[in-house]
Amino acid sequence: MKKVAVIGAGTMGNGIAHVFAQAGFSVSLIDVQQVQLNKAVETITKNLDRQLQKGSITAEIKDAALKNITTNTALAAGVEDADLVIEAATENADLKMNIFKQLDEYAPQGCVLATNTSSISITKIAAVTARPESVIGMHFMNPVPVMKLVEIINGYATSKEVTDSIVNLSKQLGKIPCVVNDYPGFIANRILMPMINEAIYSLYEGVAGVEEIDTVMKLGMAHPMGPLQLADFIGLDVCLSIMRVLHDGFGNPKYAPCPLLVNMVLAKKLGVKTGEGFYQYTAGSKEVKVSSRFTASM
Ligand code: CAA
Repeated sequence: MKKVAVIGAGTMGNGIAHVFAQAGFSVSLIDVQQVQLNKAVETITKNLDRQLQKGSITAEIKDAALKNITTNTALAAGVEDADLVIEAATENADLKMNIFKQLDEYAPQGCVLATNTSSISITKIAAVTARPESVIGMHFMNPVPVMKLVEIINGYATSKEVTDSIVNLSKQLGKIPCVVNDYPGFIANRILMPMINEAIYSLYEGVAGVEEIDTVMKLGMAHPMGPLQLADFIGLDVCLSIMRVLHDGFGNPKYAPCPLLVNMVLAKKLGVKTGEGFYQYTAGSKEVKVSSRFTASM
């Protein structure tokens, strides 16, 4: 595989484009909005500069990586000669199924169709195509250039050949692949999201404050971020939608999303991306300050 098309130029899409371009692949980054594509290239440049300053890459690697990326607002043209397409659009099942219908039409035969979904069924997405054996989950973690894991998810019909090729490819990127099967939340979010939801329940029930909950998990369990800060980093809307996938998929009340999580999403307090969640964020600042909403009563 030499040519990769990445659909969606948001946080995950630009991170995925970054690691492929840095590893020498030719990357076609696709988004409906040119503004979003320009922003993505800016972010990739900034992150490559950060790596350059730390000495983890050379100036030649940075320049070559940027040259490897082209941008495209048309899906058909962007995927026409791809060996692999990775869809990293918004986490919405209808949108993803619509993209995969188009990929089935425009991507060449033999091209592997991967999705970076964090929880939507690979089998369901594959079923809208006439080539479900070529559809697979390739779940990268945020921030993509830093996190080593790629969770590879086999759909019901994914062929062994396709899984093996994606395992090898992930290694070429310097990542560690883990192959899992297609059940709600796969492994990463089946375990991570109930932990985050339980942290929110602990806050909601007044067991402890935001800082105490996060400190217990950071210092007691050596997590780099506490669960509430991590929820802000992922986005509370994403956390809620994954809890709903687990709740609907297993039909087990233990996965019911905490009412406080639901309320915060309704109030658009989604975490870092809206400037407030469990913490308050000031642009450009690395300071972590608990939201005033959670300081008064504790
Ligand atoms: N690109 C390139 N390098 C980056 C980067 C980026 N986007 N972001 C951070 N880095 C580098 C920094 O340059 C720094 O490098 P050095 O170690 O060489 O100094 C290193 O990463 C650490 O960064 P910082 O010093 O800025 O900050 P930090 O020590 O607080 O680390 C963090 C930041 C890596 C995000 C860390 O806090 C962390 O590991 N957090 C947890 C991340 C996590 O759990 N991600 C999974 C989320 S779940 C998910 O993605 C999937 C899902 O389905 C919901």
